Amino acid sequence: MSVKIGEHIDLGEFPLLLAPMEDVSDPPFRYVCKQNGVDMMYTEFISSEGLIRDAAKSRQKLDIFEYERPIGIQIFGSDIEHMRQSAEICTQANPNLIDINYGCPVKNVACRGAGASLLQDIDKMVAMTKAVVDATHLPVTVKTRLGWDDSTKNVYEVAERLQDIGIKALAIHGRTRAQMYKGQADWSMIRDVKQNPRIKIPIFGNGDVDSVEKAAAWRQEYQVDGIMIGRASIGYPWIFREIKHFFQTGERLEGPTIAERVDVCRTHLTKSIEWKGDKTGIFEMRRHYANYFKGIPNFKEYRMKLVELQDVNHIIEVLEDIRHNFAEEVA
Ligand SMILES: Cc1cc2nc3c(=O)[nH]c(=O)nc-3n(C[C@H](O)[C@H](O)[C@H](O)COP(=O)(O)O)c2cc1C
Repeated sequence: MSVKIGEHIDLGEFPLLLAPMEDVSDPPFRYVCKQNGVDMMYTEFISSEGLIRDAAKSRQKLDIFEYERPIGIQIFGSDIEHMRQSAEICTQANPNLIDINYGCPVKNVACRGAGASLLQDIDKMVAMTKAVVDATHLPVTVKTRLGWDDSTKNVYEVAERLQDIGIKALAIHGRTRAQMYKGQADWSMIRDVKQNPRIKIPIFGNGDVDSVEKAAAWRQEYQVDGIMIGRASIGYPWIFREIKHFFQTGERLEGPTIAERVDVCRTHLTKSIEWKGDKTGIFEMRRHYANYFKGIPNFKEYRMKLVELQDVNHIIEVLEDIRHNFAEEVA
């Protein structure tokens, strides 16, 4: 059965979503994920304060492209009126939906009353969400965690109350705020939310899916409507096509060859420069090389060059050396 968000976003059967990730899920990275079959994507989270101040960094994150659809813009903040205003600004950018972040655990977000901190004040979370829902004609979705800490796992209540005021889908990361990214994600409460007969909106599971096997097993075990993948896609956008292929055929795809790794890394670099300009594009691409070539023996010397070179032609020469020198390797 097809999964729908609101009336107009049809994600097909059991969609795979790219998780919003600050400094990662920008247009260049989204391009390579889209090429590899992801069903829906989100921007990095965008500060509502930044949007209202018209901060260039926040505004730039509103850039979305037609080929990316369906795509959601994710916002966060602590002030209800500012969240309302930023929902209006986001609506003008014309995404397919607006997503609210109630999951971010990092101090300068959660300790300033935004992100996961709203899990400590469900009434405020509900009021904030309602303000956003009322400010836009677009579907509004939410991404959150199981709760603030072990003794306050309230996502079951959160799901009911947010559905009641009109959100159209909920993505749940199977950790509490206190866990940050430690330990293992626990999807059993995600299943409880999904099995709540009151819940009609799609429930997406998130946290630690990093292989075809896990995606298949957890789909079965936790009965979610789709899976959201973050870290495992960094340097490995093929994870989407591999999981999709397995679901469609029951067969495993081979992993990417070195040539494919080089091709996708080059595309990512090109898109990065196109969107960010030479200097920033080259600089921000540096964090990705090691991920694209994980498992290659003695990659260090190539990596050193890749993260030092300033000229795109020289970087491409190194990437082509990798293609040539590791043609026989299975990474
Ligand atoms: C580098 C990084 C940046 C992140 N930025 C965001 C963000 O902007 N918004 C958000 O909702 N979650 C953010 N997250 C959390 C992820 O969306 C996701 O919930 C988490 O990584 C667990 O999923 P995974 O195990 O598939 O990575 C971020 C995670 C990482 C690793």
